[in-house]
Amino acid sequence: DLEGSYSLGILFADHPDQVYAVRCESPLIVGVGDGESFIASDVPAIIEYTRNYYLLEHDEIAVLGKDGVHIYDVFGQLVEKELKTADWDVEAIGKGGYAHFMLKEIHEQPAAIRNTISARIQDGLPNLEECGITPEVLRSFRHIQVVACGTAMHAGTVGKYVIEKLARVPVTVDIASEFRYREPLVGEGDLVIIISQSGETADSLAAMRLAKSLGAKTLAIVNAMGSSIAREADMLIYTHAGPEIAVASTKAYMVQIAVMYLFAFELALAVGKIDADECRRLVKLLEQTPDTISEILEHKEQTQYIASSLITADSLLYIGRGLDYALSMEGSLKLKEISYIHSESYAAGELKHGTISLITENMPVIAVATQTALREKTISNIKEVKARGARVILICRENDTVDPDAVDLKFGLPEFDDLLMPMIAVVPLQLIAYYTSVLKGNDVDKPRNLAKSVTVE
Ligand code: M6R
Repeated sequence: DLEGSYSLGILFADHPDQVYAVRCESPLIVGVGDGESFIASDVPAIIEYTRNYYLLEHDEIAVLGKDGVHIYDVFGQLVEKELKTADWDVEAIGKGGYAHFMLKEIHEQPAAIRNTISARIQDGLPNLEECGITPEVLRSFRHIQVVACGTAMHAGTVGKYVIEKLARVPVTVDIASEFRYREPLVGEGDLVIIISQSGETADSLAAMRLAKSLGAKTLAIVNAMGSSIAREADMLIYTHAGPEIAVASTKAYMVQIAVMYLFAFELALAVGKIDADECRRLVKLLEQTPDTISEILEHKEQTQYIASSLITADSLLYIGRGLDYALSMEGSLKLKEISYIHSESYAAGELKHGTISLITENMPVIAVATQTALREKTISNIKEVKARGARVILICRENDTVDPDAVDLKFGLPEFDDLLMPMIAVVPLQLIAYYTSVLKGNDVDKPRNLAKSVTVE
């Protein structure tokens, strides 16, 4: 009788020894321990007690009792299910000495990248064959549509810039909640990439089902093993970030972009836009990102200082061009979701078409300028906002000379290739958001009004 998406745990007064659980779209697992069982929406919740669990399908009903767990379909027929074993350990879901999960997860990024890419590189070249992606498959797509929500959508936006630049295949990026209701123009010959940490985001799942029904091939880039999106996609690349507990996504974003790079390299090679030597050079750069990120993590004091300059702000802007603009979207979302300071990201060249009127005395503007070819253009936009009273914080290379009259604070990044710079430059943006939230005394890992998995529309 109930409509919508839900998972319920139900107790009956006349069945005091049993717990009933039912899944309707929203994820539900049943953990099986030694003489005890558990219901939860995701594995991290039970891992302290048991690694063994059943993953319930839509419309299935579990009965937990003294004699163990029994699962039934909607017609009351007993269902035989595979007992799964999570390969995460308890440490993975602890804070490991860090003040917050978010900070721990930021520090886990170098390892997460290595875990995600290493098995997909052979002889220095990307190899996604075990995910169902071969050069022939790649050559068959005339258009790529990326669909995702929030941070995952921002990872897709970075992917768009990289794929179009290297492979010259057109890519459009859409928010899943828009895509699913706009009668999208996808079908045979198109690849729809769905990016999701949880693999359970309701809009992304619905968008994927729609794309499949329209005849497109779907590729899921997902972190949570066995999740709905992972199970239903035609092709699947798991990111290996491990459990991400903080609501604000950091390491999941990092590995989503890492996968987008690998995918773009392989696609560019498959369609003949780069040769094997160039592809190897790019893969090597990708393999160097973890060390460069670790370098930043060892010198993060400047991000604390920048954060302390933001806590009194009511509103701020993030600006950039090209890949820096894609990145600034993520920086802005990260800051607003955990610091509760209003912020927008804007393509730097678009400011003069309206948004620049928002600039008032002392309003912080975080400018990202890592793309060499666009640097001078962004600097001239920085001067425009500075002239209107903005307090400018610039994220650029350590060695870049900056005009002290145009920039108030600078975060210097280690030298790295322009194309892969988003993986490096996102780290100070994550840290600035983190420390701003800490300094404001907010609940960093569980910001108000937000859930880790958005399993409702
Ligand atoms: O699990 P998903 O990657 O599908 O989640 C998508 C968004 O809800 C998620 O990225 C959200 O924007 C994060 N809280 C941002 O930090």
